Amino acid sequence: MEALLQQIAALKADIEKTAEEGADALEAYRLKYLSAKGLVKSIFGEMKSVPADKKKEFGQILNEFKQIAENKYAAWKEKLEENPGMGAASTVDLTLPGDAIPLGTRHPINHFLDHVISIYQRLGFSVAEGPEIEDDWHNFTALNLPEHHPARDMQDTFYIQRNPDWLLRTHTSNTQTRAMETQSLPIRIICPGRVYRNETVSARSHCFFHQIEGLYVDENVSFADLKQTLYFFVQEMYGKNIKIRFRPSFFPFTEPSAEMDVQCQICHGEGCAVCKRTGWLEILGCGMIHPKVLENCGIDSNKYTGFAFGMGIERPAMLKYGINDIRLFSENDVRFLRQFTSNT
Ligand code: DAH
Repeated sequence: MEALLQQIAALKADIEKTAEEGADALEAYRLKYLSAKGLVKSIFGEMKSVPADKKKEFGQILNEFKQIAENKYAAWKEKLEENPGMGAASTVDLTLPGDAIPLGTRHPINHFLDHVISIYQRLGFSVAEGPEIEDDWHNFTALNLPEHHPARDMQDTFYIQRNPDWLLRTHTSNTQTRAMETQSLPIRIICPGRVYRNETVSARSHCFFHQIEGLYVDENVSFADLKQTLYFFVQEMYGKNIKIRFRPSFFPFTEPSAEMDVQCQICHGEGCAVCKRTGWLEILGCGMIHPKVLENCGIDSNKYTGFAFGMGIERPAMLKYGINDIRLFSENDVRFLRQFTSNT
């Protein structure tokens, strides 16, 4: 009897220790303890050797043991049904390489824009942003482009049907008017953003693209300051040996106005298809802010002067990365987008 009790205690401890793993382990447990030839049955078989006066006490111990063995089985089975992968951890090979998480990349336009911004920030310019849906005043009239002015035709405009005074901004110059109206002087800002024009989409032009506008208004700002600022920019962007030239031009919002060309980076001035055999590429428009524009924005044009410039982003980015079709930027083909992960 003593030996039997010890055996039962040892079996209880074994049951408790048995790790609850997968279906095979559960079946092995069932065969060992609960089947017709299992330990529970065989211990019950010992009943006959127990003296009659102890049978009741022993019977209780046996029943308790059987209950423990069955409870464990039932609980284990339920857990396994809820989690069929249970106990499978031991089959995971931790040395296998993991699945690569697909990472997006910075869009080449943002990549290029960030680089442009960082150059102007070193000169003390800070970033300002304006709305893409703009009113006529900030996009045109305040910039000395009154209604019916022929220069408006330079920028084919999308108008908003709900309100004829609203349009999709045709240039980031809208942000300079907003800044001059609201900020205190001196103002030294760059304004990056998306602009829209009603143009036929082709390899070279799109109905939306990006620009960055620059603006500096203070006392005694001169054309020499403008030239030096732009010169610093192109040297940082294209290298110290870059050649540039200014050509006189016309914009209603600047006087005098100029366009700046950089030496073609594809043929280095020799002449090629990209620069139409001239050796030069126009990258921006600029000039001294027209006194009328300053006055329109509430700035005393006798006391203050300023310069402004506006540069497209797509064209210089295409040059820098050797991209030959502007539509690629907005087609969201990851095979294209993935190619621009390095630093500019
Ligand atoms: N807004 C002009 C355009 O979109 C670019 C431009 C030219 C901006 C001269 C300026 C400027 O600020 O001074 O074509």
